[in-house]
Amino acid sequence: MTFDLSVDNSQLGGPEVEALIASRPWWHRIEIRSGIITPGTKDTFAELETRIGLPERLDGQSVLDIGAAEGFYAFECEKRGAQVTAVDVLPAAESGFGLARSLLGSKARHLHGSIYNLDAAVIGEYDLVLCLGVLYHLRYPLLALDNLWSVCKDRLIIESQICDRYFLKQDQQVASLADLSPELTNASIAQFYPDAELSSDVTNWWSPSEACLSQMLTTSGFENRIYFSDGARAVFHCRKMERTALSARLAASEWDSVKRPTLLYD
Ligand SMILES: C[S@@+](CC[C@H](N)C(=O)[O-])C[C@H]1O[C@@H](n2cnc3c(N)ncnc32)[C@H](O)[C@@H]1O
Repeated sequence: MTFDLSVDNSQLGGPEVEALIASRPWWHRIEIRSGIITPGTKDTFAELETRIGLPERLDGQSVLDIGAAEGFYAFECEKRGAQVTAVDVLPAAESGFGLARSLLGSKARHLHGSIYNLDAAVIGEYDLVLCLGVLYHLRYPLLALDNLWSVCKDRLIIESQICDRYFLKQDQQVASLADLSPELTNASIAQFYPDAELSSDVTNWWSPSEACLSQMLTTSGFENRIYFSDGARAVFHCRKMERTALSARLAASEWDSVKRPTLLYD
């Protein structure tokens, strides 16, 4: 079957849609037609229902979905009325985003690039930024949060691995911070994974505690509250704020020196 990813294929019938869905592996479950769902191993519907707290309606809002993968959350925001831009280090044609977008007839834009490359002068600012399941994959999480601030107009929803009830001990057993020591309850710490310790995935680098992630967000200019946490994963709902506190001003100036480097003999 010949198939053009760049055009709207929302009129394609059931058998062709099913054949196209079967042509690649899926991680997200996305409803492409009534009753035809991509066979993803991640139950995106349950996660959306219980964990994320996406606003019911997003009419007239702009949304930036960072690390969108196959695009379940991007398409969900579009259904709720938003104009959506997705970003991922994987090109749309490789991640499944391109196929899902074409079958859905979605107008969502996809940018092939990294969270580190976000630049408001190039891609604009967004009413709502989503950063779900990305932070712990990054070696430079604070640089990423500062970048999110620079492209966020109002709200950020961020989801991450956390270590409060998922601290990996040397024997690879999982413990809660409180069990390790009562003094570690609510401690602002992060666990670093130099290798593939977390979920046998070498792309996992960091797992902050709830308190640590909250403070990382605050110093990056986001007022924040926990919307969901089971001690291993957490979702924070954040509002962009002015960076007036000394720590936030220092963070902003350090970010500036990274984004606009100068090196002068004097
Ligand atoms: C665990 S998946 C999360 C996908 C989706 N947001 C979700 O919650 O289901 C992480 C995604 O982030 C992307 N990613 C990893 N590093 C990234 C980076 N530096 N910038 C943008 N996306 C990145 C990966 O390609 C992958 O699609």
